Amino acid sequence: MWELPPLLLSTRLQFLRRPAARTCMAGYVPAEGGRGRGARYPPLSALVVSAIAAFSAVIVLAVVHSAYDATVSRTRTLLGHNLEPTPWHPFPHAKGRPPARAALRCAPSVACLPPLARPRPPPPADAANASSSAAPPGIGKRRQCPAYFAAIRRDLAPWRRAAGSRGGVTRALLDEARRRASMRVTITGGGRRLHVDLYYACVQSRALFTVWSLLQLMRRYPGRVPDVDLMFDCMDKPAVNRTEHGNGDPAAPPPPPLFRYCTTRDHFDIPFPDWSFWGWYLPETNIEPWSREFKSIKAGAKATKWVDRVPTAYWKGNPDVASPLRVALLGCNDTGLWRAEIMRQNWTDEAKAGYQHSKLSSQCTHRYKIYAEGFAWSVSLKYILSCGSMALLIDPQYEDFFSRGLDPRVNYWPVSRVGMCESIRDAVDWGNANSAEAERVGRRGQRLMQDLRMAAVYDYMLHLLTEYAALMDFRPVPPPTAQEACEGSVLCLADDKQRRFLEASAAEPAVDEPCVLKW
Ligand SMILES: *[C@@H]1O[C@H](CO)[C@@H](O)[C@H](O)[C@H]1NC(C)=O
Ligand SMILES: *[C@@H]1O[C@H](CO)[C@@H](O)[C@H](O)[C@H]1NC(C)=O
Ligand SMILES: *[C@@H]1O[C@H](CO)[C@@H](O)[C@H](O)[C@H]1NC(C)=O
Ligand SMILES: *[C@@H]1O[C@H](CO)[C@@H](O)[C@H](O)[C@H]1NC(C)=O
Repeated sequence: MWELPPLLLSTRLQFLRRPAARTCMAGYVPAEGGRGRGARYPPLSALVVSAIAAFSAVIVLAVVHSAYDATVSRTRTLLGHNLEPTPWHPFPHAKGRPPARAALRCAPSVACLPPLARPRPPPPADAANASSSAAPPGIGKRRQCPAYFAAIRRDLAPWRRAAGSRGGVTRALLDEARRRASMRVTITGGGRRLHVDLYYACVQSRALFTVWSLLQLMRRYPGRVPDVDLMFDCMDKPAVNRTEHGNGDPAAPPPPPLFRYCTTRDHFDIPFPDWSFWGWYLPETNIEPWSREFKSIKAGAKATKWVDRVPTAYWKGNPDVASPLRVALLGCNDTGLWRAEIMRQNWTDEAKAGYQHSKLSSQCTHRYKIYAEGFAWSVSLKYILSCGSMALLIDPQYEDFFSRGLDPRVNYWPVSRVGMCESIRDAVDWGNANSAEAERVGRRGQRLMQDLRMAAVYDYMLHLLTEYAALMDFRPVPPPTAQEACEGSVLCLADDKQRRFLEASAAEPAVDEPCVLKW
């Protein structure tokens, strides 16, 4: 805590110890009052002592206040207080000081005190074999992981290759990755404690929700999340250029390992589930945690059967996200010529109307739904696929963790960027000529999303972290500047709306084993 100078402290204590009544009465003793130098409590010296004491008290308060002030002006939070936005992707950010509540009550030393009774974790007998492909006998059939989990191996290949000779994920590589990271996450204590070292602010509440996602993983699989040390960038665009880092040449030194929400075939960034699975609330968006949102979209999709769906393609979104693709898409807005209806989502208006018209569940009215990337990957992909309409994906450049499960002409229809409007028209014309097959493509896309339950999202996180941890050549230790994060500290920082989503997306300890990876 704050250190008081010892001198002031002792003066203050003397002042407190002195009986207050006597000090006061001293002023009212008329007989000896005038010249009482020889008295035990001469009024003059009493006055001097009181004055010094009062003065000291003021100084103590000032010291305490300035110590408090210094603490608050240094306290970094997951909401970006006292942090600059990332230099590689600046955004408007009033870094500000945390409110007193966040600085004091939400401090991990207060908010992360262990609960009186911890739920007893299941024996971790199987933990070391979480990734093993053999089902333990007697436990019954374990689910096999969806096929796209195999991408974990591809994503981590550069470090696995190096694991023999150069030591896989090293501290030096992590230091290199730090230059493009907004935070460092350290999980220790047998997967029970999480520390975060904050370097830059993340846009909106991404950092808060991403740390929450990891805490929920720890809650779902108590004691089974491996100890890890990882660098995370919460901004959109991948940063680890493949050609600049050896292009997969086994002789080249491995690239810096950097986690983020997406990657491309030309990058080595490691994709991790984005915040929107736990909900995305802004003044402008109101997207529920994924488990709820999928249910409601699926119910909405049931309301309009395929035959009753409008036989054209539909897109509704925000074209103003520095995406040339979405701007170009506005040019295809002609149901006669291009069979496409392109609607501008004005979030300001939507918010005023209580999101009644932007409800994702009421947007499953067309047989074809267009997906156009925004500034990078877009969280809208999963909502579009959930409708059961045939998804027309305009040549995606970015991959998130599950989009590697997409299969052209099987669970979506590819549309090219070049001659985009013609390509949309041709896809719609094909679909209307082959209605049953188009419907099946739509259903398989919806099925992919159905299988993307939160259980699968957590399993992906667990397997990814387990495989990554196995490549680390050092024991993770939280750096001295890191602060602990726990459910209490995250909930405490959140505003009411954010807290509603966080609480709604809280995980329960798993009853099933994680799915089995098949490489
Ligand atoms: C993991 O599996 C191997 C064999 O597949 C076994 O020898 C080992 O004991 C298992 N470890 C644990 C912790 O169950
Ligand atoms: C990667 O770096 C190379 C060489 O600097 C450059 O030509 C290429 O455009 C970069 N790729 C990406 C995807 O940024
Ligand atoms: C697209 O066309 C429709 C119908 O003509 C119109 O209502 C809508 O505003 C247009 N969309 C945009 C983004 O201009
Ligand atoms: C959205 O609507 C508001 C008024 O409701 C208007 O001021 C704003 O310019 C609109 N935004 C766009 C991008 O059209």
